[in-house]
Amino acid sequence: MSGPIIVDSVAALRAQIREWRQTGLRVAMVPTMGALHDGHISLVRTALERAERCLVSIFVNPAQFAPTEDLDKYPRQLARDLDRLREAGAHLAFTPTVAEMYPAGFATKISVGGPSSGLETDFRPAFFDGVATVVTKLFLQAAPDCAVFGEKDYQQLCVVRQLCRDLNLPVEIIDAPTVRDSHGLAMSSRNAYLSEAELDVARKLNAVLRQTAAELASGANETSSTSAATDALVRAGFRKVDYVAAREAVTLAPWRRDRDGRLLAAVWLGTTRLIDNVEIPRA
Ligand code: PAF
Repeated sequence: MSGPIIVDSVAALRAQIREWRQTGLRVAMVPTMGALHDGHISLVRTALERAERCLVSIFVNPAQFAPTEDLDKYPRQLARDLDRLREAGAHLAFTPTVAEMYPAGFATKISVGGPSSGLETDFRPAFFDGVATVVTKLFLQAAPDCAVFGEKDYQQLCVVRQLCRDLNLPVEIIDAPTVRDSHGLAMSSRNAYLSEAELDVARKLNAVLRQTAAELASGANETSSTSAATDALVRAGFRKVDYVAAREAVTLAPWRRDRDGRLLAAVWLGTTRLIDNVEIPRA
């Protein structure tokens, strides 16, 4: 099986997409930062179900990392990523440099309100501006018909939907369920930072969230349930809990029992920050 076509310039990306469009092919995009795992590959599979051509971008976006975060140590493994894309049947890999995406003098920022307030933004204030800016650029560069985002980064998914709606970006956003290991741990490139002992603790996160969501759905008080979840996570061995919060599933406004809900959490194990989320079934 031949691998994906690899392009690293916007001009070459556009030329390839133009060629496909001229023959009437629909294009699905999967934006990634590389270090591809089974979660990403499931996004590629969804893309291949929704379009004849699948484009995967691999770009570790400096704009979404704070100076104190893990930009330098973020896993980069392009050769392995391209092998995985070949096995998965992706057609095109866009692997731009930082200079291609942010040439000298770059001075624009896209800032999304609504679902980006609170949760991650309380702890990573510049994160969603960085994500929204790079996703807008990627969509304008590639002009895909649709793009696939994982529910694992649930707030990011809501922010990208809002961005497309507000800016009339003609890209259909498709969500794909979180891929988990057999213990319920959500696949994440940052899991690579965890020791075996930390992995054992990390695997308890989803169970605590599922139990808390079930309690909320059956009428438990929101404040006491989320603080009991925080205590349970600390007892399980997480060093710090940034938040465990119930939100309305689409807008991420405060949760109301008569609406679809989502329970979201961010926790620390040593120097690694993990996020996860689960549905709160409607009462
Ligand atoms: O989810 C990610 O990997 C990144 O935030 C994204 C969407 C590729 C933007 O850099």
